[in-house]
Amino acid sequence: MQSIGQAAKELLERIQVIRSTTIHSPMNNSNEYEKRQDSSKKTNPDCNKCQDENGYIINENGMQLWKICECVPAKKIRNMMKSSQITDGFRQLTFENFETKGKHSQIEYSFLMATVYANQFETIEKNRHNSFALVGQVGSGKTHLLCAISNYLLSKGVQVIYFPFVEGVNNLKNNFDELEEKTDRLKKARVLFIDDLFKGRDKPTAWQIETMFSIVNYRYLNHLPILLTSEKNFGMLCDIDEALGSRLFEMTRGNRMELVGKQLNFRMTDFE
Ligand SMILES: Nc1ncnc2c1ncn2[C@@H]1O[C@H](COP(=O)(O)OP(=O)(O)OP(=O)(O)O)[C@@H](O)[C@H]1O
Ligand SMILES: [Mg+2]
Ligand SMILES: [Zn+2]
Repeated sequence: MQSIGQAAKELLERIQVIRSTTIHSPMNNSNEYEKRQDSSKKTNPDCNKCQDENGYIINENGMQLWKICECVPAKKIRNMMKSSQITDGFRQLTFENFETKGKHSQIEYSFLMATVYANQFETIEKNRHNSFALVGQVGSGKTHLLCAISNYLLSKGVQVIYFPFVEGVNNLKNNFDELEEKTDRLKKARVLFIDDLFKGRDKPTAWQIETMFSIVNYRYLNHLPILLTSEKNFGMLCDIDEALGSRLFEMTRGNRMELVGKQLNFRMTDFE
């Protein structure tokens, strides 16, 4: 007779097989099975293999199993891109269309830093200092390069949420009832891209500083990466709020650069 240990082991192995190939067995739930059969009659599906059902039934060892379709990873990336809040225009900003030829060495260097960070992200992410920042000169390509990093990471299936400071804080303020849910999303995203932190002629308000601090501090404590641009350098950020500025400074150790000099303003390149 088979021992209980042996039987349990065999059962566990069977569960493993089912788990690795199925979401659930449709045979165990006939309603669900019928529903899937019906909805598979969809016309013009994006995926002909699964009729946009994300999976299909296969026969394995006499059992009918639900197999996740090969189209699912690409679909996940598309959804992730949609929910990243990166606009269509910013999705076009890549490393390929960033010019370095004949540009100032600071531009070349910031490009190099950004490509290395994007390429080695999976390793860097595990470090204490896993964030990236370009600060300083207006128009020097800070947003372009950080969009290039974000678009690259998204294409690899890494979740990035884009948070443009000015629009972002206004949006949080105008939807007070959703504040907690929205800030929670910014706190917990795998990567958060804060663009143009503390932009504006006026000093940031106490509420803006508090809100940004709670997001940054959560990410600081949980070792979650931030991509940062700001016209203000780290000294200025610390003058606004030392607790916030110094956390960002620490998080970006080895991966930050200040761009200095009006000649770096790409918007003024054909200006005589
Ligand atoms: N080296 C470059 N190659 C190609 N396009 C560039 C380069 N640098 C900047 N640009 C383009 O110039 C414009 C300004 O760049 P970007 O917005 O990235 O600058 P920024 O440093 O973020 O400026 P700001 O401080 O005003 O936000 C964008 O359209 C960007 O795509
Ligand atoms: Mg910018
Ligand atoms: Zn499919």
